[in-house]
Amino acid sequence: MLMKALQWWFILILIASGCTKATREQIDMKRDPHSFSNPDEARVTHLQWKAKIDFETKTIYAIATWTIDRSGNSEKIIFDTNDLHVEKVTLDNDSSPKYQLEKVDSILGQALSVTLGPNTKTVSITYKTSPKGEALQWLSPQQAGSQSPFLFTQSQAILARSWVPCQDSPSIRFTYEAEVTVPNHLLALMSAANPTEKNERGVYEFKMQQPIPSYLLALAVGDISFKAISDRSGVYAEPSLVDTAAWEFADMEKMIAGAEELYGDYRWEQYDVIVLPPSFPFGGMENPRLTFATPTILSGDRSLTSLIAHELAHSWSGNLVTNANWNDFWLNEGFTVYFEHRIMEKLYGKDYSEMLAMLALQELRKTIDDLKAKNEYEDTKLKLNLEGRNPDEGVTDIAYNKGYFFLRSIEEKYGRDKFDGFVKDYFNENAFQAMDTERFVDYLKRYYQTKYSISIADESINSWIFTEGLPADCPKPVSERFEKVDQLIADWKTNAGRLDHNKTGQWSTHEWLHFLRNLPSSLTISEMEQLDTFGQFTASGNAEILTAWLTLAIRYNYSKGNDRLEDFLIHTGRRKFLNPLYNELVKTSDGRERARRIYQKARPNYHFVATNTFDKLLN
Ligand code: BES
Ligand code: ZN
Repeated sequence: MLMKALQWWFILILIASGCTKATREQIDMKRDPHSFSNPDEARVTHLQWKAKIDFETKTIYAIATWTIDRSGNSEKIIFDTNDLHVEKVTLDNDSSPKYQLEKVDSILGQALSVTLGPNTKTVSITYKTSPKGEALQWLSPQQAGSQSPFLFTQSQAILARSWVPCQDSPSIRFTYEAEVTVPNHLLALMSAANPTEKNERGVYEFKMQQPIPSYLLALAVGDISFKAISDRSGVYAEPSLVDTAAWEFADMEKMIAGAEELYGDYRWEQYDVIVLPPSFPFGGMENPRLTFATPTILSGDRSLTSLIAHELAHSWSGNLVTNANWNDFWLNEGFTVYFEHRIMEKLYGKDYSEMLAMLALQELRKTIDDLKAKNEYEDTKLKLNLEGRNPDEGVTDIAYNKGYFFLRSIEEKYGRDKFDGFVKDYFNENAFQAMDTERFVDYLKRYYQTKYSISIADESINSWIFTEGLPADCPKPVSERFEKVDQLIADWKTNAGRLDHNKTGQWSTHEWLHFLRNLPSSLTISEMEQLDTFGQFTASGNAEILTAWLTLAIRYNYSKGNDRLEDFLIHTGRRKFLNPLYNELVKTSDGRERARRIYQKARPNYHFVATNTFDKLLN
């Protein structure tokens, strides 16, 4: 009898401990592995930021006052910081509370833990940034290609903490207001309601009334002017570029209207784009109300504007419905590529958007092969495991293009109308909230079941999200425009010498890219010369075409490309272009030497995001 009772106790204890484990695992899944913050106890809801920008010392002097929301028994709040010099912390009624900067983690930075009083509602942190602050790029007038210096930030993924102490997790949202003082001949802009003109005092005020996650905090300071495109959109750029930019992006209002027609109202009131100096490490960054963009999309023929469609699309996918943490990054980017293609299709037709899809598939295949060869095949799953790693390692074509093709596969399988209904409701019902992969799957399946009585099979979902490689049911884009390119290449191969301008006169950047990426797998110097004479590639001002061409020039030792290559690498900081070029160079020992030599000259012009990538490759 006693034995029996003991046995029961034992079983009960086992069950109880099993439960504890399960709950802990669930909590773990929700934890953001890239933030020290403790949102379950205390989380920020509003930021008041007062800052002075000092170009002389490359320092931002600032006070960040956070309004916080707390659970019943919270004793402290934890912020993320990275290389910040904290001078003072105060609470609303306490001028010297207990606070502590924890030990440095090389990827995550430092936790700042502040002990709260029983009724604390705000925490003020007085601090300054480091000249090496990883989000910040301070450009001399010469580097900015201007009479004035320039400063811009890049906060995604976990760099906001290097210029504002914050709870740096995409699942934590807050509104903000700011007052920023800059040298008085410069303009300051943020991811907020913005000024359109400089003022005498060099003091600017900002307000962001919709709650955003920290990775969307952004600041740009420089000699910048504005030109309106419609009553809710326009471009900012250095004065000599602003007309060019406004011409290039003339269709921006049509894009916004088209996007709204597809998936619901634009919820951020104003949509502007700022064209940054060429060292900006990305093509674009979806900072709310103010997309940051590389000048390399000013191709002069409006052929690279899908990038604007992409960043605009993030106003829904990403900025409204946000990946819960960086393991779910594909939810941001996959949806955005899908939405981008739909905007381009709506404005310019299916034969245009199918070229984008073909290029996306080629890039995806190559990325899968490369990751496999590098023994990083795990990273070809949509759902990533980036714990203990820099989330930047998740920024590959997998999130973008495998994500895109997954969504397109659902569209194709059950019909476009159904999918559009789903996407629109998904954005609306989850607006201003975080989403993780598991909840997305659940939402998708439940939606199709209840609305359409369709049960989406787990096998297909799993093969895309939780399995490596490219699933068998991957959609197959078809592009007649590319078929013509293929034909021209085939004719040239069999009948060398017959490259005909009559056949390429109407080509867009995309056709040229397809052409350059699908040439025969070995080319002689004389063939390279012939191609260059035909296409004037070495002299091209189009950075996409130039990159594709210079990659071939390196591969086939076409030395006429050398000077152009060096000049391009020194003056462009966009990682997407630097990547193929440096990687092609390091394939041979001569090339590696050359890469190092050029990198030494170019490195001072690059943002941290780029140097962090290429220091690893070239050292
Ligand atoms: N949000 C990204 C850029 C990003 C991703 C920065 C991850 C830091 C970490 C942006 O929307 C983007 O995808 N940019 C692309 C544009 C392209 C896909 C049209 C780029 O910069 O090349
Ligand atoms: Zn994006």
